[in-house]
Amino acid sequence: MPENRAAWLDAIGQKLRVRQSEMPNPGAEDIVVRNYAVAVNPLDYKIQDFGLFTESWPTIVGFDIAGEVVEVGDSVQRFKKGDRVMSYAPNRGGFQFYTLTNTKATAILPSNISFQEGAVFPVAFNAALVGLSGDGGLGLPVTSLEPEPSDKTIVVWGGSSSVGSFAIQLAAAAGAKVVAVASKHNLDYCKQCRAVEVCDYKSSTVADDVVSAVKAVGGTFTGLFDAISTPDTVKPVLAILEALGGGPLSTVLPVYQEYDVPSNVKPNFVHGYSPVTFPLWEDYVTPALQNGKVKRLPER
Ligand SMILES: NC(=O)c1ccc[n+]([C@@H]2O[C@H](COP(=O)([O-])OP(=O)(O)OC[C@H]3O[C@@H](n4cnc5c(N)ncnc54)[C@H](OP(=O)(O)O)[C@@H]3O)[C@@H](O)[C@H]2O)c1
Repeated sequence: MPENRAAWLDAIGQKLRVRQSEMPNPGAEDIVVRNYAVAVNPLDYKIQDFGLFTESWPTIVGFDIAGEVVEVGDSVQRFKKGDRVMSYAPNRGGFQFYTLTNTKATAILPSNISFQEGAVFPVAFNAALVGLSGDGGLGLPVTSLEPEPSDKTIVVWGGSSSVGSFAIQLAAAAGAKVVAVASKHNLDYCKQCRAVEVCDYKSSTVADDVVSAVKAVGGTFTGLFDAISTPDTVKPVLAILEALGGGPLSTVLPVYQEYDVPSNVKPNFVHGYSPVTFPLWEDYVTPALQNGKVKRLPER
């Protein structure tokens, strides 16, 4: 029986400490993954610094994992021991050698994708997809390998972030046109993700620039994805939505609750682990990565 070791977080504000952890036992729908790469997300440090979403301590953070399947539950059909996978670990616990995860947000990692590349994928992919196509999101069709053309145009604020760069890619892959907002040194990066236009968020005229870009791009304006959602994005984002007649607003943090939001703007805080993502983990993620329809970004 191999030994499991984890980077334990004992309490708010503590450093991670490596020590033994229990070897997980898979339930019927679960798998156990031997991690070869895990990604750090902002939520991990927010749990460490502020205890977000954490009721009992010690805990093991980490949601994004990539590695090899070592155990499968009795009902698992899609995976077998030895498969290379990446997975969103819904109950955290990524920062250890062996992690228990379920198969709903797990996909085979194609052989051309390294564990490191795979590990940056699940959390950001899920949040982007839910914000675009989940309940209360921007109403885009769920991305598929053969999307129908669409006349929808959206804005992605924070197009260079992990979530924002997936939001651009997935919206473009669903046939929509994307105007992205990022800083100057990331304009090309957003174009690489398939944004049609990119505006500099540090410009003093950014709200007007985005509104002009949306009008120039054409199509039906369908909403805005704020992939940053900090107090400094609120004012320009609401100005853009007001100038474009309002619409749905997907947010990665619940910041808009603290502001007066016009009645024709519908903020929706994205919860990244959602059933809307599950069919894509089953049928889309692996072939889309294999044939380059979606890229594992950021590569840096
Ligand atoms: N709700 C969910 O399910 C969910 C899931 C994942 C993440 N999140 C949250 O989403 C936030 C972003 O996470 P992430 O991992 O995607 O971030 P990230 O990859 O670390 O984002 C960094 C990027 O954001 C850009 N940026 C920073 N401030 C900006 C601003 N005001 N306007 C436009 N771009 C800006 C930076 O560009 P410059 O360096 O050029 O400024 C940088 O390229 C975090 O707060 C995280 O907790 C929520």
